[in-house]
Amino acid sequence: MLAADVEPAAAAILRADWGDRRTWFEFATTQAECRPVVAEVDGVVVGTGVGTANGSVGWVGTIWVESAQRGRGLGRALTQAVIDGLEAAGCRTLLLVATDEGLPLYERMGFAMQTRYRILEAQGLEAGDLAGPPDDPTRVMRVYASADRDALLALDRAATGEDRGHIIRRFASPETTRVLDQAGDLRGFVIRAPWGGGATVAQTPADAMRILDGRRRTSGRSGRVRVGLVEENAAGLAALEGAGLKPIWSAPRLIRGESLDWRPDWIWGQFNHALG
Ligand SMILES: CC(C)(COP(=O)(O)OP(=O)(O)OC[C@H]1O[C@@H](n2cnc3c(N)ncnc32)[C@H](O)[C@@H]1OP(=O)(O)O)[C@@H](O)C(=O)NCCC(=O)NCCS
Repeated sequence: MLAADVEPAAAAILRADWGDRRTWFEFATTQAECRPVVAEVDGVVVGTGVGTANGSVGWVGTIWVESAQRGRGLGRALTQAVIDGLEAAGCRTLLLVATDEGLPLYERMGFAMQTRYRILEAQGLEAGDLAGPPDDPTRVMRVYASADRDALLALDRAATGEDRGHIIRRFASPETTRVLDQAGDLRGFVIRAPWGGGATVAQTPADAMRILDGRRRTSGRSGRVRVGLVEENAAGLAALEGAGLKPIWSAPRLIRGESLDWRPDWIWGQFNHALG
């Protein structure tokens, strides 16, 4: 996928009602660690795929084929092209979030179920609304500063088992990022991507609830805030459902290759489901 393919690829996916991927493709075509590909028939884009190398862990995402072209091997070819690019970049673990349509294809290509993402949604809050028990006053949500970067990168690496430094360096800024600070200890963070996701890491449900409360207040009572957990985080899922969040979506996360040294219970939100 070249810069000139972004517009036709995004337009085709939008027409197919599979979401607005323009900003995501703009990122993927301008980030060295991403390997975006397209399938063309007679010079027209009919399929997409994006690989992202987070160190030795690679993400396979946005595998999409125009409905009239399905069942002819393009989906498999796009997935294989993305995998080849990631393996050439040194990835030994491959991850992806599968739709029902994609699952059989990926299983035949050697991916196996690792866990499931659960996406929940909360309504926004006004400044005066109470949410949950009174907060610990030593924990504060504050604007990110560049001096936080090393601690944030270390926390992200411990949580995900991936090296997402290239993404964090591009997106983390005082405008996009909030950190949870307890007496100088960076306990968690949320980073907004330009397409709207919110990568969130926190070490305990209480820390995550504090970050969520901040996000709900920023969004206001008419807004909505989404969080994404994996099934290993049973305590987190119970805490969020107890706080009234409603499950809205769920999808399997698949893995191929070396197992991951990660902390799934520290993960509370994703950049998107093609990136983790
Ligand atoms: C998933 C998707 C990319 C597959 O694209 P595709 O071009 O049809 O895929 P292929 O033609 O390469 O087929 C892939 C496999 O599915 C099989 N297949 C294709 N059409 C099928 C059908 N209608 N029923 C059952 N199996 C089918 C093929 O036999 C092939 O298996 P094989 O390679 O082991 O022989 C496509 O359905 C799509 O874009 N869906 C919407 C977006 C989406 O959900 N993407 C997945 C994100 S995780």
